[in-house]
Amino acid sequence: MTGRVQPTGGLVGRGLVKRYRRGVETVSALAGVDLRVDAGEFVALVGPSGSGKSTLLALLCGWETADEGELRYLGPLGDRRPETFGWRDLALVPQALGLVGDLSLADNVLLPARLRGTAGTEGPRARALLTDFGLAHLADRYPSQASLGEQQRAVVARALLLRPAVLLADEPTAHQDRGHADGLLDAVVEAARGGAAVLIATHDELAWARADRVLSMRDGVVTEGAPS
Ligand SMILES: Nc1ncnc2c1ncn2[C@@H]1O[C@H](COP(=O)(O)OP(=O)(O)OP(=O)(O)O)[C@@H](O)[C@H]1O
Ligand SMILES: [Mg+2]
Repeated sequence: MTGRVQPTGGLVGRGLVKRYRRGVETVSALAGVDLRVDAGEFVALVGPSGSGKSTLLALLCGWETADEGELRYLGPLGDRRPETFGWRDLALVPQALGLVGDLSLADNVLLPARLRGTAGTEGPRARALLTDFGLAHLADRYPSQASLGEQQRAVVARALLLRPAVLLADEPTAHQDRGHADGLLDAVVEAARGGAAVLIATHDELAWARADRVLSMRDGVVTEGAPS
């Protein structure tokens, strides 16, 4: 699928700290994270369970705010406040998926376009993504009538629909067999080649192999390169 290239994005984080407090206990989920993801780059974020990957993505997408540090978006996004970002600016594949339960898979995929009032023009791309991800025959099903892997592929299709400037995905191949995982990774690589800044948290070693760069996360800190 080729298509128009979006305005370039990307992001830089410096010294990002995020603490969660539970009563007297404090968890330093992020302990001073430095990272940069440029437009056109596919970066894989790897690290053990609990190392802070989802927390970092939550911060980068604006769901959480940092206790310390600085987060800047690059290019045209840098002139805007993150609260104003739409799916075309920044798209997220949450670890918990988050499909709308009373919309069909097709309508979930088309949702970002509906919110922009461009559902008519984006319809063919939504159908192409559903077909590419092996979901064409399930388009009218509700999420509760689809497998976890099928739901996850719909979530990735929803994120890719508007060719976002920044794509953040939290373990997007976690529920996939190898063939479907490779199909999703093809689409992620294509998004980066089309100019998106792509960061995916992943335990999938074949995803690291396809990334332009690998970042390792451990105990809330990010270092360049694959884990040793
Ligand atoms: N809301 C919260 N309150 C308290 N602690 C939290 C909260 N969210 C996350 N944590 C803690 O922060 C740390 C990082 O969690 P996070 O979900 O970012 O890890 P992760 O690397 O994404 O793990 P996984 O690979 O299992 O998805 C963990 O120790 C977790 O228990
Ligand atoms: Mg996680």
